Amino acid sequence: MTRIFSGIKPTGHLTLGNYLGAVRRWAEVDQYRADALFSVVDLHALTVEHDPARVRRLSRQAVTLLLAAGLDPGRCTLFVQSHVDEHARLSYLLECTATDGELRRMIQYKEKSAAARAAGQSVRVSLLTYPALMAADILAYETDEVPVGDDQTQHVELTRDLAVRFNQRYGHTFTVPRATPPKVGARVMDLQDPTGKMGKSHENGAGIVYLLDEPDVVRRKVMRAVTDSGREVAYDRENRPGVANLLDVLAACGGGEPAELAGAYTSYGALKRDVAEAVVEVLRPLRERHASLVAEPGYVDAVLREGAERARAVARPVVDRAYRAVGLLPPG
Ligand code: AMP
Ligand code: TRP
Repeated sequence: MTRIFSGIKPTGHLTLGNYLGAVRRWAEVDQYRADALFSVVDLHALTVEHDPARVRRLSRQAVTLLLAAGLDPGRCTLFVQSHVDEHARLSYLLECTATDGELRRMIQYKEKSAAARAAGQSVRVSLLTYPALMAADILAYETDEVPVGDDQTQHVELTRDLAVRFNQRYGHTFTVPRATPPKVGARVMDLQDPTGKMGKSHENGAGIVYLLDEPDVVRRKVMRAVTDSGREVAYDRENRPGVANLLDVLAACGGGEPAELAGAYTSYGALKRDVAEAVVEVLRPLRERHASLVAEPGYVDAVLREGAERARAVARPVVDRAYRAVGLLPPG
């Protein structure tokens, strides 16, 4: 059976980008067609300046939202990364496989290290080595497919390279995975800056729809979305990124092809109203289920306990095998 692994970082509140680019497909498709593991990858939240209480809170919220989005613990394994030691254990071996040059070429590293420096902050070493930990997340589970948004394909490519290199040097150990980006919603852009992706850790939330935003907040954000100077509604990602993003979101939420949907509108206002309502309807059941899960903390704890156990049982033998393959003496 196909094995799927994917993760989400608790660095901010989950956004519409996370949902349309990743989580929705995990819930609607992936957990039914494969042996799927999904993880709130909390160790990855420590690569930039962080507040411990906030990471704790956001990790719990992310798990609850994944359940609210429809991940079913009877069908997939849901767990928190730091509950399973194998990730950190394997990450070190992959740091010993990756090169400095390879890690420095990662776009996300370049962008985030520049941003940290610009803000007068120091750059944590873990920001550079982060793709080795991400590769460990994936390789520890003999993963075949990694459903992620567009922004993560470079990291998955690196994971493939590391798996192949490790296998060549030390004998076959890892399955070589591949990224599977979604057809629509692979890159939801910020509503205030449609040339940048809708990311959860932006300073200013005006262009970001969070999954737990109230309907009126969603409407306000969509109605204030930056559009382009033209008048007629056309789908042109290059020259009309704002309108194209709205059409993409509409297609992802309500179905249809963005270019065809464009033909149905004669004004930006009407398009925005329909986008707002489509998003509100997609988020409504999620917010409702989230509220009832918050009232059942014992259930969420039990899901995480069981998820970590199942994940450990898969990862342990794979990571043990890798330790032996590189020449580490097995304990007696
Ligand atoms: P992150 O929030 O960086 O942990 O990302 C979790 C998942 O959501 C990854 O698969 C990302 O590729 C996906 N994702 C994050 N932001 C967006 C976005 N704006 N559009 C589409 N997918 C996204
Ligand atoms: N790096 C991913 C992101 O920023 C999150 C992530 C960590 C992940 N480990 C993973 C995604 C393993 C897929 C598989 O979105």
